[in-house]
Amino acid sequence: MKFFIDTANLDDIREAQALGILDGVTTNPSLMAREGIKGEKNIQEHYKKICDIVDGDVSAEVISTDFEGMVKEGETLAALHPRIVVKIPIIKEGVKAIKYLTEKGIRVNCTLVFTPGQALLAAKAGASYVSPFIGRLDDISEDGIGLVKQIVDMFNYYGYETEVLAASIRHTRHIIQCMEVGADVITSPLQPILGLLKHPLTDAGLEKFLADYKKVNG
Ligand code: E4P
Repeated sequence: MKFFIDTANLDDIREAQALGILDGVTTNPSLMAREGIKGEKNIQEHYKKICDIVDGDVSAEVISTDFEGMVKEGETLAALHPRIVVKIPIIKEGVKAIKYLTEKGIRVNCTLVFTPGQALLAAKAGASYVSPFIGRLDDISEDGIGLVKQIVDMFNYYGYETEVLAASIRHTRHIIQCMEVGADVITSPLQPILGLLKHPLTDAGLEKFLADYKKVNG
């Protein structure tokens, strides 16, 4: 399972990269705004900085909602760096843009996916990734992980090569659940990833090993 970090914060990206387990980054306009990155040129420069840190795919989202706008933005974003994947929302114009961009060799991450039907359209249009949003479904008492499983099963059944990129991860358990249902990729903020390290018996065991060593070796 690939690990992407879901942030535009360069320190968090560097920390995850330094761990040696990072396979990519996803961003969205809200995450860019959270870092105070504004203006087309600054946003593009920020994407380039992220690409310089990480040796993996970096999703950069369009803000247009019409076909021509999405294609133009997508081509501009893809030209910034070979590892940029253009993030396109699953709307009618978006499906057309996914088809157009993928036929031109530009990889697409189809975002804001909340149903298996949306994922199916994205895969048929040629998306490299589809991003079902787990946390936002759980927030409205729906089953986020259940959706990831439905999409994984559907893609396996029909042999789609589109990767299931589980997004909107809120906590460490979500990552474990994604592993259990066979998601290809998870994208998560840094803390849920670091949460995978934690167990009280690890801490207690390490403390005892070090204390026993010190007793004998001083
Ligand atoms: C996915 O690519 C999105 O950037 C992200 O996972 C959304 O997460 P949120 O629901 O926590 O905003």
